[in-house]
Amino acid sequence: MATILAIETSCDETAVAIVKDRQVLSSIVSSQIDLHRTYGGVVPELASRQHLEWVNPAIAQALADAQLSWAEIDGIASTVTPGLVGALLVGTMAAKSLAMLYGKPFLGVHHLEGHIHATYLDQPGLKPPFLCLLVSGGHTSLIHVKEAGDYTTLGQTRDDAAGEAFDKVARLLGLGYPGGPVIDQLAKQGNAKAFKLPEGRISLGKHQGKGKAQQGQARYHPYDSSFSGLKTAMLRLTERLKPESPLPIADLAASFQYTVAKALTKRAIACARDFNLSTIAVGGGVAANSELRHQLTAAAQAEGFQVFFPPIALCTDNAAMIACAACEHLTRGRSSSLQLPVQSRTPLEKVLSLYE
Ligand code: KG4
Ligand code: ZN
Repeated sequence: MATILAIETSCDETAVAIVKDRQVLSSIVSSQIDLHRTYGGVVPELASRQHLEWVNPAIAQALADAQLSWAEIDGIASTVTPGLVGALLVGTMAAKSLAMLYGKPFLGVHHLEGHIHATYLDQPGLKPPFLCLLVSGGHTSLIHVKEAGDYTTLGQTRDDAAGEAFDKVARLLGLGYPGGPVIDQLAKQGNAKAFKLPEGRISLGKHQGKGKAQQGQARYHPYDSSFSGLKTAMLRLTERLKPESPLPIADLAASFQYTVAKALTKRAIACARDFNLSTIAVGGGVAANSELRHQLTAAAQAEGFQVFFPPIALCTDNAAMIACAACEHLTRGRSSSLQLPVQSRTPLEKVLSLYE
């Protein structure tokens, strides 16, 4: 295996980590949340500027924490896609410059592949194939993980990502940004059955569909999700409840969270069952959600499936997961060209095009 220093600057966290053989030697995550909170979301230009200021001290700190010198680093990685282009550029230019300066291989990593690999840092013995439920601020996907670099997306959201839905509903309820952690906390004091909300099913044409489960009979796509209807239902509900002030915020938060967790659990279990994948690894910021952890663990247990949730610090954006993914590629003899551009999006199925 190898020792990798990775830089993650795809959104609003400036993160640097050093990972050796699926073991985290150091991990620095500087969150910009306070900077963006005033605006109710991430402001791309401010994110890039903050990354510029923080990236060099974070690199120095990661090396100091791991007590390593550059001579002991085998490869330097950065997130190159998907993300905010200006933000991605900061970490990637730093990684490429260091790779050139110290004569090390450079590895450009797909952010979602990083989230998939977060579970390995907690479960170093885990081997593919498995199903990854990836739920973050930008993505909601069910991914068949066959090998490092070999992924098939089996299901995804048709509109908002799960984390995005948490953030938008939190804004609607006047709870600030980011919404997930606040809703999670508030929901603990609420009644999850107080309001019945739509789960967001995707209708199928009679003979439409992909995957084993449909065979022309299913009425709804079994793995795809949609959260825009749920978001609208929350808006209508709050409008209807307004005269009855104050709003029953905790019940609204609990009912919303329960519905999202139910939708995700149902789809993940159906997908694992249909594709004979008895292990489910969950990744992304929404994997930190307590209700999702509760519902999916119980449902997986009932089916005899294994389910792994990484520790919360590895669910949200970090560079250790990026280093872990880079490590898998480097040990398979892959590295990236220093000419590799950053890209706002790249299908996960094209991950190997990042390497030569
Ligand atoms: O993976 P991540 O850190 O960044 C992206 O790649 O998007 O995910 C951030 C998202 C945000 O939308 C945030 O509201 C959500 O994860 N999140 C949560 C929780 N903690 C973070 N959502 C639900 N419950 C949580 N406890
Ligand atoms: Zn992420």
